[in-house]
Amino acid sequence: MLQVKPLSTKDFDFAVELANTMDWKMAPADFEFMHYLEPHGSFLLVDDSKRLGIATCISYGKLGWFGNFIINAEYRQKGGGTVLLKYAIDFLHEKGVKTIGIYAYPKLIPFYSRFGFKCSEDFSFLHIEKLGAVEGEELPKINHSDHSKILDFDAEYFGGERQRLLDTILTEDSNLKYCVFDGQDLIGYALATVYDHDAWVGPLICRDSRPEVAFSLIKTVLSRLSGKTVYAVVPKKAGALLDLFYSLGFREEFFVSRMFLGESVGKNCIYLAESLERG
Ligand SMILES: CC(C)(COP(=O)(O)OP(=O)(O)OC[C@H]1O[C@@H](n2cnc3c(N)ncnc32)[C@H](O)[C@@H]1OP(=O)(O)O)[C@@H](O)C(=O)NCCC(=O)NCCS
Repeated sequence: MLQVKPLSTKDFDFAVELANTMDWKMAPADFEFMHYLEPHGSFLLVDDSKRLGIATCISYGKLGWFGNFIINAEYRQKGGGTVLLKYAIDFLHEKGVKTIGIYAYPKLIPFYSRFGFKCSEDFSFLHIEKLGAVEGEELPKINHSDHSKILDFDAEYFGGERQRLLDTILTEDSNLKYCVFDGQDLIGYALATVYDHDAWVGPLICRDSRPEVAFSLIKTVLSRLSGKTVYAVVPKKAGALLDLFYSLGFREEFFVSRMFLGESVGKNCIYLAESLERG
């Protein structure tokens, strides 16, 4: 019988192996991090004792996010994914979440639509194997006294409160953190999580009315990442930003549709994702 259980530490190797059949480049640390952010929000689908699939979710107050959703290829099309997704939706609703976001592969839009998810915007998943030299500007680094303004700004535009997640990125010395103020007004900020050989650019949030600031933030971040493998998830409608990435040699690996179940939250802005599994 199909059953959903908590994904425990001893299942992390299974979860990594399954996720990486999709080339998601996951490591046990990624599931540990999900567990830290949402202690009961990672799930394992079993049929009696056979492990069939996984999914994770996270609540940010009124907004929640669903991801890392995969069923072993041999067991698909038998209702397992439906059981897991319904379980996660109920979990998030019980936590007080009103709106659930996902990044969906286009071929799965009909599947998610059946649960009531609606498309909001398409995003390109961009990648470069080895970034060359990029000319950046000297923008202000986010310092500790800016943190509360960044968190308020992020909550206003993203639509959920993700302090735990952002604190983790903001307090790691090796990460990149820049912001642009106009007087007292925050116009935009950009973060990048930096590892030894690779880096993830995002989240970035910038006011719609100031695309040139988003442009400068991205150039400045990329100028510090020469030689690394770099990933970013960029809105398809932000043509000038995509052109910037393409001019530096980035390529689209695939694209995803951001979908929401529930009323749309947050405010229009220029947005680069923190990750596919957490928004
Ligand atoms: C997405 C995914 C998790 C769905 O899992 P699944 O177990 O196949 O999901 P379900 O079986 O509940 O539903 C899949 C389809 O099978 C159909 N189905 C459900 N039970 C069925 C049954 N008993 N017999 C035949 N079909 C069935 C569903 O109606 C659904 O139809 P659709 O493809 O037209 O939407 C799975 O396809 C997967 O792991 N994909 C690779 C990873 C991935 O793409 N993850 C999502 C990232 S956005």
